[in-house]
Amino acid sequence: MLKGLIFDLDGVLTDSAAYHLQAWNDLAKSIGITLPPAANDALRGRSRMDSLDLILAYGRQQTHYTLAQKQALAASKNTHYQALIKQMTPADILPGIVPLLDAARAAGLQLAIASASKNAPTILTQLGLMDRFAGIVDPDSLQHGKPDPEIFIKAAETLHLAADEVMSFEDASAGVAAIKAAHQFAVGIGDATVLAAADVVVPTTAALNFAALQQAFTAQ
Ligand code: G6P
Ligand code: MG
Repeated sequence: MLKGLIFDLDGVLTDSAAYHLQAWNDLAKSIGITLPPAANDALRGRSRMDSLDLILAYGRQQTHYTLAQKQALAASKNTHYQALIKQMTPADILPGIVPLLDAARAAGLQLAIASASKNAPTILTQLGLMDRFAGIVDPDSLQHGKPDPEIFIKAAETLHLAADEVMSFEDASAGVAAIKAAHQFAVGIGDATVLAAADVVVPTTAALNFAALQQAFTAQ
C-alpha cells in the first residue's frame, strides 16, 4: 500500500536544475571547457564534487588540479549558484506540484526529500514548502551519491516506511537508477528515452496526477 512520497528537489519541485547547469556552464567556460548537450542530464542529481569531476573529464583536465584547487572551483560555482537562487519565491514551484502535495496530504501520505544538494533547505524555505516534509535526508550523511540507492533508502527510513510503500520522483537518469536500485516505484519527469528505467514517465510536472499515479502503483 502506498504510504509515502519521496521527492528529488532540483528539477522536480522547482527548476533550480537550470541554475545548477548555468553556474556549472559558466565555471566550465572560465577554465576553457565547453559542456556537451549530454551534460544536461549527466550533471543532474550528482553531488557537487562528482559534478566537477565530470566537467573536468569532459575537458580532459582531470589531472590539472589539486584537491585544494578543485575545492576552490566548487566553492566558486556554489557562490554563483547561491546568488541565482536567492530570488526564488513560492511562484517558482513547478506547475502540478502543489496539487500533488495537497492530494497526498489529503490521502494521509508522508512526504520526504531525497536531494543531494546542501542548498535544499534554503530552497525549500524560499519556496514555502519546508513544513510539508516530515523527512529530509542530510547529504553530509551519505557515503555514495546517485545512482547509488543510499539516499532513497535513507529517505524511506526517515518516514519509517518500506521500499514497497513509497513512490519516488526524479528528473535525472542517475536519480531514476538510484530509485530502482532501492527497489522503489519510480516516477520520471522529463524525456521518456532518457528516463526509460522509471515505472512511469511524465513529460513535465504539470502532467502529474495523484489518482493516476496511485492507480499505476497499485497495478504494478
Ligand atoms: C542535486 C542537483 C545537482 C547538484 C547536487 C549538489 O542533486 O541535482 O545538480 O550538483 O544537488 O548540490 P549543491 O547545492 O550541494 O552543490
Ligand atoms: Mg534533480
